[in-house]
Amino acid sequence: MKELIFATNNKHKLLEVSNMLTGIVQIKSLSEAGLAGEIPETADTLEGNALQKAMWVFERTGLSCFADDTGLEVEALDGRPGVFSARYAGEHCSFDDNINKMLAEMEGKTNRHACFRTVICLLENSDSQTSPTPLFFEGRVDGSILTERYGSEGFGYDPIFMPDRFAVSFAEMPLDVKNHISHRGRAVAKLVEYLKIKK
Ligand code: IMP
Repeated sequence: MKELIFATNNKHKLLEVSNMLTGIVQIKSLSEAGLAGEIPETADTLEGNALQKAMWVFERTGLSCFADDTGLEVEALDGRPGVFSARYAGEHCSFDDNINKMLAEMEGKTNRHACFRTVICLLENSDSQTSPTPLFFEGRVDGSILTERYGSEGFGYDPIFMPDRFAVSFAEMPLDVKNHISHRGRAVAKLVEYLKIKK
């Protein structure tokens, strides 16, 4: 089975994505690939960051790999925090800090519409070229920002994000349900389609 390194240090993401790719490709974590350290993500778009993270792995291993980058785009905040979602409450902030800031900024706002967007960048090694052509896969889920935390599953903004057509937050859903409808789940589904066709 083909092996792909997933350029993430986030254990939740690794679990989510590995589950979705079972039987299609063998996912290797960064540590399984012998890599350690912070992967830079300094671009100002999701595509740019996903490419930067995947290139970081490719340059060190020469092996096929992919990376994802996600942003939470809130309508009432003119699309913020977007590509800066991880550092919304400042450098080295926690998921909890980000949620607190979001709840404070959204206090009293009636338009609570938001979406998560994920972009995956796949880099495949081949004998014929030194620099692979990046392929991008995008997924999106629309929903709303809740007024308080609900649930303890998942990570990041999950306790305050309720996807449209559901009455629970992402943090109240079993992982397989979240994976089915989430931004990352939809982006991975497109990646899976591509990998199946290429097999
Ligand atoms: P990343 O750069 O792709 O790691 O994502 C940026 C930030 O978005 C993360 O630090 C999380 O706070 C948030 N995020 C990404 N994916 C999810 C998710 O599935 N649920 C909730 N928050 C997420």
